[in-house]
Amino acid sequence: MPTTEFAISNKTYNVSIDGCPEFSSGIENVLSNEDTDIVFHQPWYNKGYASIDFLTNDEFSFLKEGLTASVKKIVEEELNISPEGFTLETYHHFVKSSEDHFKIVRKTRDLFSADFNFPIEEMKPKFEKILGFELTDVDPKLGEKLHIIVRINRPKSNDFNPPHKDIYEEVDKNNYIPPFVNLWIPIAGVTENSSLPMVPCSHKLKESEILRTFDGGVVEGNKYRVRMIKEWGGSKTLERAEVKDGQVLFFSSHLIHGLAVNEEEDLTRVALEFRLFKV
Ligand SMILES: [Fe+2]
Repeated sequence: MPTTEFAISNKTYNVSIDGCPEFSSGIENVLSNEDTDIVFHQPWYNKGYASIDFLTNDEFSFLKEGLTASVKKIVEEELNISPEGFTLETYHHFVKSSEDHFKIVRKTRDLFSADFNFPIEEMKPKFEKILGFELTDVDPKLGEKLHIIVRINRPKSNDFNPPHKDIYEEVDKNNYIPPFVNLWIPIAGVTENSSLPMVPCSHKLKESEILRTFDGGVVEGNKYRVRMIKEWGGSKTLERAEVKDGQVLFFSSHLIHGLAVNEEEDLTRVALEFRLFKV
């Protein structure tokens, strides 16, 4: 069975890529530049990502309490249990099988349109102040409001997608680079063993140095829409982003990231994931 190896901070992972489309490299150009990457003028552009304070302790607690209550309610309703003492970090003690987890994830995908009131409108000015330009959560091409995704990853599970760049789908399908920045906000269980793996400076590699699929990916038997990247500049190594409670991890939409295995023994990881477009 075909496999490939990656490394995250000295630990190697051998993953099955059985059923994965063919890998090849692209053009002799770097796709990220002043016109195609809205974070080009940020002080952290060279590395491609940065963790920046944006919530006070009280604001963070409020956000976490709200999410905990929403997820708890879904667990109650979907699994017909009363989860006494439920916390996001101990989610896997209540949701024990993958089958049950998928029932929950189906609902948490739509958490924001349903009953969770994430004050994105209140937070947007904070992100605008940090980046120095106006932002919108409406995709300028589709005219649709973007979803905020609540990612719940159980310890040691394979609920993670392959290394990828967020821009590739539009690049491949429409030869278009959407003008957005990625945001990743830790809520629970984000540590040096579970944080999002990144490839620093990978947005500055030529496409000819990146070996990837051009139509989705299959990892460990799971199918993903994102194009899977197998190798970058001769490397297969990622490093976990350092990001604390109350911070937001900003990263270029051109940056390679993913393979977010939760290596904690007994902590579920919960993070918010979304994109904002430059107005
Ligand atoms: Fe992504």
